[in-house]
Amino acid sequence: MNERDVQIREVGLRDGLQMVHTILASEQKLEWCARMVDAGVIDIEVTSFVPPKVVPQFADAAEVATGALAIAGLHAAALVPNLKGAQRAFDVGLNKVHYVLSASNEHNLKNVRRSTAESVEDFARIAAARDELGRDVVLGAGVATAFGCTIAGKVDERTVLGLVETLIEAGAQEITIADTVGYANPAQVRALMRQVVALAGAVPVACHFHDTRGLGLANVMAALDAGVRAFDASLGGLGGCPFAPNATGNINTEDTVFMLEAQGLRTGIDIGKLLAIRETIAVWLPGEPFTGAIARAGLPATFAAPEAVAA
Ligand code: COA
Ligand code: ZN
Repeated sequence: MNERDVQIREVGLRDGLQMVHTILASEQKLEWCARMVDAGVIDIEVTSFVPPKVVPQFADAAEVATGALAIAGLHAAALVPNLKGAQRAFDVGLNKVHYVLSASNEHNLKNVRRSTAESVEDFARIAAARDELGRDVVLGAGVATAFGCTIAGKVDERTVLGLVETLIEAGAQEITIADTVGYANPAQVRALMRQVVALAGAVPVACHFHDTRGLGLANVMAALDAGVRAFDASLGGLGGCPFAPNATGNINTEDTVFMLEAQGLRTGIDIGKLLAIRETIAVWLPGEPFTGAIARAGLPATFAAPEAVAA
């Protein structure tokens, strides 16, 4: 009864920050995390374990992850692109690690400098490293460019489904299907996600949408129809992919929560608090493009959040 109907996973600190020009201090990142938790966003991808020379914003990944682990109520996760990143994340004591590879081999080569097949092999090594840890770590696997690729064009559904099957067999405890470049449409999402959800069985499935072409929230609705109950979103719609030209940000957290709660789906998140955090972040990140209809127009006077989720 007290469960959330839909889980919102904040990725602004990872997907959002990897594209911005200002490097935030670790203390600012941790304040952002703590305030999100206070607003009810308890699942946050707090950083990315990539080489500092690839993304200087994440040179403080270990400090941020360690600080995030000390925030009560926060389920901190981090993105990792390879075994070395996963080992760094395991070493700081994170209990949730998100690995990512691309369905498009061309995108994978650009993003992580190896073929998709090599990334699959790397994932198996990460799963083996997790099994040896002797503590509970949830290892999620994300399939990027699952709905199309700026470099390769069309991505076959069978490629995505094959990867989902392989990743689960190799030890993925959660699957995320990502529209990295904003090519997906609702019909495509409904069709693919039904198959992914069926294939994944007991393994939870999440979606990661970008609003590059304005279909982000429509795609959330389609994924809900298909049985998906977890979504990545970014405060103020920050984000993008360095290897997807003109990519814009993720679906906006405030607008996504509004859309869900307006339909009676409980997220456990306080939209007013999100808007206040957004104002702080906007001061920290001058000149960055923030999106969002609720920040501009406010909540409708008729809006009533569904019955609150008990802590
Ligand atoms: N964290 C820190 N250092 C790392 C690392 C990691 N996750 N992975 C590799 N390195 C280091 C290696 O130790 C090596 O260091 P050295 O030169 O001092 O020996 C150096 O980086 C090169 O290692 P290599 O394995 O050859 O990596 P690469 O140059 O082929 O790059 C990735 C591969 C995956 C590390 C890089 O392409 C990457 O970080 N991609 C992610 C991009 C991204 O963030 N995309 C957006 C999110 S999906
Ligand atoms: Zn993304």
